[in-house]
Order: sequence, then C-alpha cells, then structure tokens
Amino acid sequence: MNAGKNTPLAINEVATRDGFQMERHFIESEAKIALIDELSQLGYAKIEVTSFTSAQAIPALRDAELVMQRIRREPNVVYTALVPNVRGGERALECRTDEFNLVMSASETHNLVNLRMTREQSFRQLDDVAALANSARVPVNVSLSCVFGCPMEGEVPVDSVLKWVDRFAALGVQGVTLCDTTGMAYPTQVQEVCERVLGRHPDLAVTAHFHNTRAMGLVNTIAAVEAGIRQFDMSLGGIGGCPYAPGASGNVATEDVVHMLECMGYDTGMRLDGLIGAAGHLQTLVGHELASQVSRAGHRLIRHAPPPEFESLRERALAREAARQAGGRMDGAAP
Ligand code: COA
Ligand code: ZN
Repeated sequence: MNAGKNTPLAINEVATRDGFQMERHFIESEAKIALIDELSQLGYAKIEVTSFTSAQAIPALRDAELVMQRIRREPNVVYTALVPNVRGGERALECRTDEFNLVMSASETHNLVNLRMTREQSFRQLDDVAALANSARVPVNVSLSCVFGCPMEGEVPVDSVLKWVDRFAALGVQGVTLCDTTGMAYPTQVQEVCERVLGRHPDLAVTAHFHNTRAMGLVNTIAAVEAGIRQFDMSLGGIGGCPYAPGASGNVATEDVVHMLECMGYDTGMRLDGLIGAAGHLQTLVGHELASQVSRAGHRLIRHAPPPEFESLRERALAREAARQAGGRMDGAAP
C-alpha cells in the first residue's frame, strides 16, 4: 500500500489501562491522574484511561470513576475506557467517557478464561452495550483479543477473525482493534490479516495493538503500516499484559515506536522528548525498570560529549600524520 513520508498516523496510549492492570502494587489515583494529564499534552489521538470492570476482576483499576472524572481533558484527545458489560457502560457514561472500548476474544478458550463467557454470549452482551452507547451517542470500538494467535489454542484462523469483524461492523461499531494479546503475531501474518480486514471494511477505523512478548512488536508495526493501518495502540515504557493470558508481556513501547516511525518520516504528531520525560515519571510510579529502549538511549541523533582526552587524541593523530608525511618526503629525497 502507499505508506510513505509524511503519512499521518494516530497514536493511542494504553499504559494506564493495559499497563496498570498488570502492576503488582496499586498506583494511587492522584498519580494516575497526573500522568494522564502529562500524556494529554504529548500529541496522542486517544488515551485509554481506565477500565469499568469489576473491582474483584481488576483491582488495579478500581478507581475508574475517580480517575475519569478528575483528568483534565484536551479537546483533541479521545478519552476512551474499556467497558466489559452494560453495568460498565452505565458507569462509563456517568463520568463522560468519550468512547467505549468493548473487548472480546477471537479465541473461544481465551474468551472463556478472560470474560467467563462463550464468544456468542459475549457478542450478545456487547450488542446491548453498543445499543447503550448508541443511545447516548458515544462511539464504540471493539478490541478483538488473540487475533494473531491464542496462548491456549494456538493458531486462530483468519476466517474466524474476519467473521467476528463482519459481525461487529454489522452492529454499526465505529472501530475495531486487532490485538496481538500475547505477542504471537509475525510480520507476514500481520500483513495478510490487516489487508484482508481493511479490504472488506474500508469504512471501519482499524487499529493495531501489538505486545512485544517475542520482540516482534516493532516489525509488526511496520508490517501493519505497510498494509494500510493508520492507528496504533501502544504503551509508555512497554508496560502491560493480560492477567488471563499465560506468557503475555508488555505492549510495544510508545517511545520506541514513535522514535522508529518518526525516523522513517511518518507523522505521528507526538513529542518524543515529552514521552521520554513521562517514561521517567512512569518508572518512578511503577517502581521497576521499564522494557522500553529509547527512554534509556534517547533519540538516535542525541549528541554525546567526546571523552575528556579527545583533544590529546586528536593532537597525537595529527602528529603521527605529520611525522608520516615528513618521513615520506625524506624517503623520496633519498638516492
Ligand atoms: N462494574 C462493576 N462491577 C461489576 C461489573 C462492572 N462492569 N460487572 C460485574 N460486576 C460485579 C457484579 O456486580 C458482581 O459483584 P458481586 O459479586 O458483589 O455481586 C461481580 O462483579 C461478578 O459479576 P458477574 O456478572 O457474575 O460477572 P463475572 O464474574 O462473570 O465477571 C466481568 C464478568 C466481565 C465483569 C469480569 O470477567 C471482568 O471484568 N473481567 C476482566 C476482563 C478484563 O478487563 N480483562 C483484561 C483486559 S483484556
Ligand atoms: Zn493488550
């Protein structure tokens, strides 16, 4: 497809939902709010603020209302939240959530483990949630988990993914996110799945969501861009995972992806220096080292001062060169 310089790409941050749900200790609400306020200034299209699930299921996000109500909203940012059922939808509406992000797995086993329902039961429930959103004129995105493989079932057939995307499109949702929940995707597969979804649903906002479990997050991102995807989920510092997916680890890191895409000439609209600063604050909040690399190394063109002995290195090199030339002249003068 026509990927190239200056192609605008929309970046969605999921660290405060996908990321925080995996952190061992509870992140205080005030700290979550301060981080989201900081992120709001950095150029994101969307921030997934929290999740309106049950506190027993995801205790790390039990302060969803408080956080959603207190953040300072920037007009160009969509503040979305994960909504698992009608109860969650009612809670989300009460605190003016801009978009509902519904979740269902493309894998039957993962859906049962994560949501305790068959996919058909989930679909019926999400139909009701989408109706609630429609009545409130709130847009709906569906995040389909395990699109590129399931940690319990193995391969997930592309035709089955397409069938679920078709069914959600027929419900009238605005967007679908193709999630590589446990980092099983690889570039040629990403290319095929993304092209087939986009080919069938040119009007759907299709987002890609990659975890970096097997270090393929960046190459999968490139494959998706080249297949025509223009919206991406990612998480600051590469935090994240899924509590019900064995082997899952963090999303591909926002600062790593943005750095790569900007080097390649894509227009993400993001402030990389701000992201690196925010990653530093995030590391203090979570209390452990982050998996991201650019937050440690900085931009590729960051200038490091030469070592203190640089001048003497140069002088010695120049002196050697002068001696060589002088020696050469002497050699030339010899009979
Ligand atoms: N908000 C708050 N509480 C909720 C709720 C919601 N959206 N949905 C259910 N609950 C409460 C119920 O009131 C009930 O509480 P009680 O035990 O005090 O009566 C309890 O949670 C269980 O409710 P039930 O309807 O039986 O749900 P469940 O146990 O089948 O769980 C989900 C369904 C969807 C709420 C739960 O599986 C869930 O949130 N899973 C996490 C999904 C997720 O976010 N995964 C990570 C992202 S991929
Ligand atoms: Zn995820």
